[in-house]
Amino acid sequence: MKIAIFVSGRGSNLKAILDSRENKPQVEVKAVVSDKIDCPAFTVAKQFSILTYSVGNNYGCINNDELIKNLQSLDIELIVLAGYLKLIPNKLLSFYKGKIINIHPALLPSFGGKGMYGMNVHKAVFESSAKVSGVTIHFVDETYDTGKIIAQQCVDISNVVSPEEIAERVLKIEHTLLPFIVGKFAEGKIDYVGNRVVVN
Ligand code: GAR
Repeated sequence: MKIAIFVSGRGSNLKAILDSRENKPQVEVKAVVSDKIDCPAFTVAKQFSILTYSVGNNYGCINNDELIKNLQSLDIELIVLAGYLKLIPNKLLSFYKGKIINIHPALLPSFGGKGMYGMNVHKAVFESSAKVSGVTIHFVDETYDTGKIIAQQCVDISNVVSPEEIAERVLKIEHTLLPFIVGKFAEGKIDYVGNRVVVN
């Protein structure tokens, strides 16, 4: 399965997917796309000789129509948002309907929505005094963090003393759950039963 990974920052989830390629030879990362001109995740992509694209209005960026053309010419079958912080434009959504997934560092439908990304999420979880947090992988629709949930894994945070500690525990899970679910897509093992998404 040919996939594109969208990023905005560090790229540790991108790296986790790339490092798991031996386990999942059927997953081929063909492009890394960012809303930034440059970001640490691009360095990861370049180490693996993967094409990178910046989307936006700045010099050196491509626009959304050009992005769609490029993704189509690469035969991209799945788009993975791994720390990508922008909304996906409707045109791209309709071209890749049901084929865009996102990883969120908390248990949706709590602690999601606009502005809830990265440490903002972990700070909110910490302030709420919640005793569990976790990871959600879900389909992407036209609003933040509202698409159908594909997979979740929780982690005990009852004894943490900082949001950073929550982030560390959650990220560790992200790095195994995301490659696992991407592999399941490649194997054709993600199905719907009624309104529920099932991982076989
Ligand atoms: C990850 O923790 C991911 O779950 C989060 O951004 C981080 C990116 O890290 N995504 C969101 O908060 C989306 N709402 P990475 O660049 O090292 O993969």
